[in-house]
Amino acid sequence: MVFKRPRGTIDWYGNQLVQLNEVADSLKTLALRYGFEEIVPPTFESLDLFYKSVGETTDVVQKEIYTFVDKKGRQMALRPEGTSSVVRAYVEEKMFANKAHATKFFYFLNLFRYERPQSGRWREFHQFGIEYLNVTSHLNDIECLIMAHEIIKMFQLEKYVTLKVNYLGNFHQRQAWMEELKVYFNDYYDELTPDSQQRLNKNPLRILDDKVDGVKDFVKNAPKLQKFLTSEDQQIFQEILTGISSVGINYLIDDSLVRGLDYYTGLVFEFVYLDPNTNSEITIIGGGRYSDLVKQTGGPDEIGLGFAIGIERLLTCLNDTNYHFTTSSQIDLVLGFDSYQTTATCFNLISELRNLGLTVSIDYGNFKKDKNAKYALKKQASYFMFINQESLVNNTANIEELTTNKLTTITLNAATIASKVGK
Ligand code: HAM
Repeated sequence: MVFKRPRGTIDWYGNQLVQLNEVADSLKTLALRYGFEEIVPPTFESLDLFYKSVGETTDVVQKEIYTFVDKKGRQMALRPEGTSSVVRAYVEEKMFANKAHATKFFYFLNLFRYERPQSGRWREFHQFGIEYLNVTSHLNDIECLIMAHEIIKMFQLEKYVTLKVNYLGNFHQRQAWMEELKVYFNDYYDELTPDSQQRLNKNPLRILDDKVDGVKDFVKNAPKLQKFLTSEDQQIFQEILTGISSVGINYLIDDSLVRGLDYYTGLVFEFVYLDPNTNSEITIIGGGRYSDLVKQTGGPDEIGLGFAIGIERLLTCLNDTNYHFTTSSQIDLVLGFDSYQTTATCFNLISELRNLGLTVSIDYGNFKKDKNAKYALKKQASYFMFINQESLVNNTANIEELTTNKLTTITLNAATIASKVGK
């Protein structure tokens, strides 16, 4: 019987894994430069955490969360996102105690959502994210957007990506807005999809970004939150926008942008990639402020803020736009030997070469020169060297540069070989 990997998952290996690691390294380096510290929470948490944070009526919790009951009968969940866990850890470990300044974390995590597998939707995927906790100034919101934009620039995606922003106000303003939306959408009840009809009383915001209903005129013309915002909110939003404009970041205000998770208040944003082949939009970065989450999770009344980027989606965009990855699984040198004995004599040499930084691969299963040469070609190595009994006696061997087929005779010495290969 042949086993298959679960739908919506990826076996990471080869070039795809090299790309994943390169992207992870670049993002981690950037986060460290912004003064963030890494955090790695557990892969599973109690299901209640996500009910409370992400929200019971969201698709992520209602339809997509992977749950299981542990041996003691506790309801657990594989994490569908990182923010809830970071906030839980911040509160549980009392990291807030005696801190006048913001605590800043970044993470690179695998996450799980039972989504219908289709382009850009995986059941296990990765996110790089950042969270500011104990935010006291909207200068943090500006820096958060600058950093997200820096990521877009770093991967040369600027011309394909639009930044959409919106301002969601506080819990009470949203409640008032939701009440008005319920009344408004009730008049259009029969025109809503069954999904939206179900959401109407629990969370009418979901109707605004619903894939089917979201494009209908009556949904586009639904009451806006703006009228519930105070002048202070409007001023803060304006100052954030002025702040990002002053560093040349373009944006689009999208008042239907509500995000799929319940904890957002204040600024919300998404960086959306327009696929040039299909003309479809893919959100690669999503984030915003959450003013109540720390308190709801049992901590003090502190404000949080952050964003996350979907790594699989980023890699798709990078491959679509022919981004030049700098690292590769390139093998510098394939060594071949004429016998078991010759090979065994050369183990010291092989170790020295690797210690000098060369990537060396050997097919230990064969002692024929042409088969070893084929192996070097298959591995797309830069150089091939075949060592036989005679090479050991003369202390020299031929090294072949595989792109030019140029042969050079050199001394069997690690430093000489390394310098030939350019290391
Ligand atoms: P989110 O919008 O649910 O936000 O996810 C952020 C990003 O993760 C998306 O824009 C997308 O690139 C990627 N993503 C989401 N679901 C999938 C999937 N099934 N397959 C592949 N990629 C996916 C959050 O998760 C928030 N925690 C972000 C945040 C951090 N807000 C504040 N701080």
